Amino acid sequence: MVVIKTEEEIQKMIAAGKVLSGVHHELRNKIKPGIKTIELDRFVEEYLTERGAYPEQKGYEGYPYSICASVNDEICHGFPGEYVLKDGDIITVDMVVNVDGWLADSAWSYEVGEVSKEAHDLLENTKKAMYLGIEQAKIGNRLGDIGHAIQSFAESKGYSVVRDFVGHGIGKNMHEDPQVMHFGKPGRGLRIVEGMVFTIEPMINMGEYELTIDDNGWTARTKDGSLSAQYEHQLAITKDGPVIITDQGDC
Ligand code: MF3
Ligand code: CO
Repeated sequence: MVVIKTEEEIQKMIAAGKVLSGVHHELRNKIKPGIKTIELDRFVEEYLTERGAYPEQKGYEGYPYSICASVNDEICHGFPGEYVLKDGDIITVDMVVNVDGWLADSAWSYEVGEVSKEAHDLLENTKKAMYLGIEQAKIGNRLGDIGHAIQSFAESKGYSVVRDFVGHGIGKNMHEDPQVMHFGKPGRGLRIVEGMVFTIEPMINMGEYELTIDDNGWTARTKDGSLSAQYEHQLAITKDGPVIITDQGDC
Protein backbone atom coordinates (compact mmCIF):
# COMPACT_ATOMS: atom_id res chain seq x y z
CA MET A 1 0.00 0.00 0.00
CA VAL A 2 1.37 3.39 -1.00
CA VAL A 3 1.12 5.93 1.83
CA ILE A 4 0.42 9.39 0.39
CA LYS A 5 2.16 12.22 2.29
CA THR A 6 0.75 15.62 3.20
CA GLU A 7 2.58 18.86 2.47
CA GLU A 8 3.42 19.13 6.15
CA GLU A 9 4.93 15.65 6.22
CA ILE A 10 6.95 16.44 3.11
CA GLN A 11 8.31 19.54 4.89
CA LYS A 12 9.47 17.31 7.77
CA MET A 13 11.33 15.06 5.36
CA ILE A 14 12.88 18.13 3.72
CA ALA A 15 14.21 19.10 7.17
CA ALA A 16 15.86 15.67 7.44
CA GLY A 17 17.08 16.05 3.85
CA LYS A 18 18.82 19.33 4.73
CA VAL A 19 20.84 17.61 7.45
CA LEU A 20 21.65 14.76 5.09
CA SER A 21 22.81 17.02 2.28
CA GLY A 22 24.98 18.82 4.83
CA VAL A 23 26.72 15.51 5.51
CA HIS A 24 27.34 14.89 1.82
CA HIS A 25 28.82 18.39 1.49
CA GLU A 26 31.27 17.56 4.30
CA LEU A 27 32.10 14.19 2.79
CA ARG A 28 33.29 15.85 -0.42
CA ASN A 29 36.26 17.20 1.53
CA LYS A 30 36.78 14.24 3.86
CA ILE A 31 37.00 11.56 1.16
CA LYS A 32 40.71 11.52 0.29
CA PRO A 33 43.47 8.94 -0.06
CA GLY A 34 44.56 7.82 3.42
CA ILE A 35 41.24 7.92 5.26
CA LYS A 36 39.68 4.70 6.59
CA THR A 37 36.06 4.06 5.75
CA ILE A 38 35.26 3.53 9.45
CA GLU A 39 36.41 7.12 10.05
CA LEU A 40 33.72 8.29 7.63
CA ASP A 41 31.16 6.28 9.58
CA ARG A 42 32.25 7.84 12.88
CA PHE A 43 32.21 11.30 11.37
CA VAL A 44 28.66 10.90 10.05
CA GLU A 45 27.36 9.49 13.32
CA GLU A 46 28.86 12.41 15.24
CA TYR A 47 27.63 15.00 12.74
CA LEU A 48 24.08 13.68 12.96
CA THR A 49 24.03 13.23 16.72
CA GLU A 50 25.25 16.79 17.26
CA ARG A 51 22.26 17.99 15.24
CA GLY A 52 19.67 15.89 17.02
CA ALA A 53 19.36 13.52 14.08
CA TYR A 54 19.68 9.73 14.10
CA PRO A 55 21.48 7.48 11.57
CA GLU A 56 18.48 5.29 10.77
CA GLN A 57 20.49 2.53 9.09
CA LYS A 58 22.23 1.67 12.37
CA GLY A 59 20.39 -1.32 13.77
CA TYR A 60 18.01 -1.55 10.81
CA GLU A 61 17.45 -5.29 10.36
CA GLY A 62 20.70 -5.74 12.24
CA TYR A 63 22.82 -3.49 10.00
CA PRO A 64 25.75 -2.51 12.24
CA TYR A 65 26.83 0.93 10.94
CA SER A 66 25.58 4.47 10.37
CA ILE A 67 26.53 4.50 6.69
CA CYS A 68 27.05 2.06 3.86
CA ALA A 69 30.50 2.60 2.34
CA SER A 70 30.80 0.66 -0.91
CA VAL A 71 34.21 0.77 -2.58
CA ASN A 72 35.01 -0.03 -6.24
CA ASP A 73 33.30 -3.35 -7.14
CA GLU A 74 31.01 -3.14 -4.11
CA ILE A 75 27.51 -2.27 -5.33
CA CYS A 76 25.84 -1.42 -2.02
CA HIS A 77 25.73 -2.20 1.71
CA GLY A 78 29.53 -2.08 2.01
CA PHE A 79 30.64 -2.21 5.66
CA PRO A 80 32.80 0.68 6.83
CA GLY A 81 36.04 -0.72 8.28
CA GLU A 82 39.82 -0.59 8.39
CA TYR A 83 40.15 -0.25 4.59
CA VAL A 84 42.24 2.80 3.76
CA LEU A 85 40.99 4.66 0.69
CA LYS A 86 43.61 5.03 -2.00
CA ASP A 87 44.11 7.22 -5.03
CA GLY A 88 41.92 5.99 -7.90
CA ASP A 89 39.22 4.34 -5.76
CA ILE A 90 35.55 5.19 -6.04
CA ILE A 91 33.25 5.00 -3.02
CA THR A 92 29.49 5.24 -2.60
CA VAL A 93 28.27 6.55 0.74
CA ASP A 94 24.61 5.82 1.51
CA MET A 95 22.74 6.92 4.61
CA VAL A 96 19.28 7.49 6.03
CA VAL A 97 18.74 10.42 8.39
CA ASN A 98 15.93 10.50 10.96
CA VAL A 99 14.79 13.90 12.22
CA ASP A 100 11.76 13.80 14.53
CA GLY A 101 10.67 10.46 13.12
CA TRP A 102 10.76 11.46 9.45
CA LEU A 103 13.38 10.04 7.10
CA ALA A 104 15.63 11.22 4.30
CA ASP A 105 17.71 8.77 2.23
CA SER A 106 20.47 9.61 -0.23
CA ALA A 107 23.54 7.85 -1.62
CA TRP A 108 26.36 9.54 -3.52
CA SER A 109 29.44 8.21 -5.31
CA TYR A 110 32.78 9.97 -4.83
CA GLU A 111 36.16 9.90 -6.52
CA VAL A 112 39.17 9.31 -4.28
CA GLY A 113 42.06 11.49 -5.50
CA GLU A 114 42.65 11.05 -9.21
CA VAL A 115 40.54 8.33 -10.86
CA SER A 116 40.68 6.80 -14.35
CA LYS A 117 38.64 8.36 -17.13
CA GLU A 118 36.51 5.21 -17.21
CA ALA A 119 35.69 5.52 -13.50
CA HIS A 120 34.99 9.24 -13.82
CA ASP A 121 32.64 8.64 -16.74
CA LEU A 122 30.84 5.86 -14.85
CA LEU A 123 30.11 8.27 -12.00
CA GLU A 124 28.99 11.10 -14.28
CA ASN A 125 26.75 8.82 -16.31
CA THR A 126 25.22 7.16 -13.26
CA LYS A 127 24.35 10.58 -11.87
CA LYS A 128 22.88 11.54 -15.23
CA ALA A 129 20.85 8.32 -15.29
CA MET A 130 19.40 9.18 -11.87
CA TYR A 131 18.40 12.68 -13.03
CA LEU A 132 16.84 11.30 -16.22
CA GLY A 133 14.77 9.03 -13.99
CA ILE A 134 13.80 11.96 -11.76
CA GLU A 135 12.59 13.92 -14.82
CA GLN A 136 10.05 11.16 -15.46
CA ALA A 137 8.73 11.25 -11.88
CA LYS A 138 5.70 13.37 -12.62
CA ILE A 139 1.98 13.06 -12.11
CA GLY A 140 0.35 10.91 -14.78
CA ASN A 141 3.53 9.04 -15.76
CA ARG A 142 4.09 5.46 -14.64
CA LEU A 143 6.95 3.90 -12.73
CA GLY A 144 8.03 2.09 -15.90
CA ASP A 145 8.80 5.47 -17.47
CA ILE A 146 11.40 6.07 -14.75
CA GLY A 147 12.98 2.64 -15.16
CA HIS A 148 13.03 2.90 -18.91
CA ALA A 149 14.73 6.33 -18.90
CA ILE A 150 17.48 5.03 -16.60
CA GLN A 151 17.99 1.71 -18.33
CA SER A 152 18.04 2.99 -21.89
CA PHE A 153 20.60 5.69 -21.06
CA ALA A 154 22.85 3.39 -18.99
CA GLU A 155 22.81 0.63 -21.59
CA SER A 156 23.49 3.11 -24.41
CA LYS A 157 26.77 3.84 -22.61
CA GLY A 158 27.62 0.12 -22.44
CA TYR A 159 26.86 -0.26 -18.73
CA SER A 160 24.37 -2.50 -16.96
CA VAL A 161 21.67 -1.73 -14.41
CA VAL A 162 21.58 -3.76 -11.18
CA ARG A 163 18.30 -5.68 -10.91
CA ASP A 164 18.36 -6.92 -7.31
CA PHE A 165 18.05 -3.55 -5.53
CA VAL A 166 15.35 -0.98 -6.26
CA GLY A 167 14.13 2.43 -5.16
CA HIS A 168 11.36 2.54 -2.58
CA GLY A 169 8.66 4.55 -0.93
CA ILE A 170 9.82 6.17 2.32
CA GLY A 171 8.36 8.27 5.14
CA LYS A 172 8.35 7.22 8.76
CA ASN A 173 9.62 3.82 7.55
CA MET A 174 12.73 3.31 5.47
CA HIS A 175 11.13 0.91 3.03
CA GLU A 176 7.53 1.46 1.97
CA ASP A 177 5.65 0.77 -1.25
CA PRO A 178 6.08 1.26 -4.12
CA GLN A 179 9.18 -0.51 -5.42
CA VAL A 180 10.84 1.66 -8.05
CA MET A 181 12.73 -0.42 -10.60
CA HIS A 182 15.65 1.17 -12.45
CA PHE A 183 14.78 -0.76 -15.60
CA GLY A 184 11.52 -1.31 -17.40
CA LYS A 185 9.14 -0.38 -20.16
CA PRO A 186 7.53 3.01 -20.78
CA GLY A 187 3.84 3.21 -19.94
CA ARG A 188 3.98 0.21 -17.60
CA GLY A 189 3.67 -0.07 -13.84
CA LEU A 190 2.00 2.00 -11.16
CA ARG A 191 0.70 5.45 -12.05
CA ILE A 192 2.50 8.32 -10.28
CA VAL A 193 0.23 10.54 -8.16
CA GLU A 194 0.60 13.66 -6.03
CA GLY A 195 1.95 13.07 -2.52
CA MET A 196 4.02 10.00 -3.32
CA VAL A 197 7.48 10.08 -1.77
CA PHE A 198 10.06 7.61 -3.04
CA THR A 199 13.72 7.18 -3.88
CA ILE A 200 15.39 6.75 -7.25
CA GLU A 201 18.76 5.10 -6.70
CA PRO A 202 20.23 3.37 -9.74
CA MET A 203 23.26 1.14 -9.19
CA ILE A 204 25.13 0.98 -12.49
CA ASN A 205 27.93 -1.46 -13.27
CA MET A 206 30.72 -1.04 -15.79
CA GLY A 207 30.36 -4.75 -16.65
CA GLU A 208 27.46 -7.15 -16.12
CA TYR A 209 24.70 -6.71 -13.55
CA GLU A 210 25.09 -10.06 -11.79
CA LEU A 211 26.22 -9.81 -8.18
CA THR A 212 27.39 -11.84 -5.23
CA ILE A 213 26.81 -11.25 -1.51
CA ASP A 214 29.76 -11.33 0.91
CA ASP A 215 29.95 -13.64 3.93
CA ASN A 216 28.79 -10.74 6.13
CA GLY A 217 25.34 -11.32 4.61
CA TRP A 218 25.03 -7.72 3.42
CA THR A 219 27.63 -6.44 1.00
CA ALA A 220 26.74 -6.84 -2.67
CA ARG A 221 29.54 -6.76 -5.22
CA THR A 222 29.75 -7.24 -8.97
CA LYS A 223 30.29 -10.87 -9.93
CA ASP A 224 32.72 -9.90 -12.69
CA GLY A 225 34.72 -7.55 -10.45
CA SER A 226 33.79 -4.46 -12.48
CA LEU A 227 33.27 -1.05 -10.88
CA SER A 228 29.83 -0.01 -9.65
CA ALA A 229 28.43 3.45 -8.89
CA GLN A 230 25.21 4.72 -7.32
CA TYR A 231 23.39 8.00 -6.87
CA GLU A 232 20.21 8.21 -4.86
CA HIS A 233 17.78 11.05 -4.28
CA GLN A 234 14.48 11.05 -2.43
CA LEU A 235 11.60 12.84 -4.14
CA ALA A 236 8.15 14.12 -3.38
CA ILE A 237 5.66 14.21 -6.23
CA THR A 238 3.89 17.58 -6.40
CA LYS A 239 1.68 19.39 -8.90
CA ASP A 240 4.75 21.34 -9.99
CA GLY A 241 6.79 18.18 -10.60
CA PRO A 242 9.24 16.25 -8.44
CA VAL A 243 10.73 18.05 -5.43
CA ILE A 244 14.15 16.64 -4.50
CA ILE A 245 14.02 16.19 -0.73
CA THR A 246 17.74 15.39 -0.52
CA ASP A 247 18.89 18.18 -2.86
CA GLN A 248 22.50 19.23 -2.32
CA GLY A 249 21.96 22.61 -3.94
CA ASP A 250 24.87 22.54 -6.37
CA CYS A 251 25.03 19.07 -7.91
N1 MF3 B 1 19.73 3.47 2.23
C1 MF3 B 1 19.46 2.17 1.69
C2 MF3 B 1 18.38 2.28 0.66
O1 MF3 B 1 18.49 3.08 -0.21
C3 MF3 B 1 19.17 1.14 2.72
C4 MF3 B 1 20.39 0.58 3.31
S1 MF3 B 1 20.05 -0.89 4.04
C5 MF3 B 1 20.49 -0.70 5.64
O2 MF3 B 1 17.40 1.57 0.66
F1 MF3 B 1 20.04 -1.70 6.29
F2 MF3 B 1 21.78 -0.63 5.66
F3 MF3 B 1 20.01 0.35 6.15
CO1 CO C 1 19.83 4.82 0.54
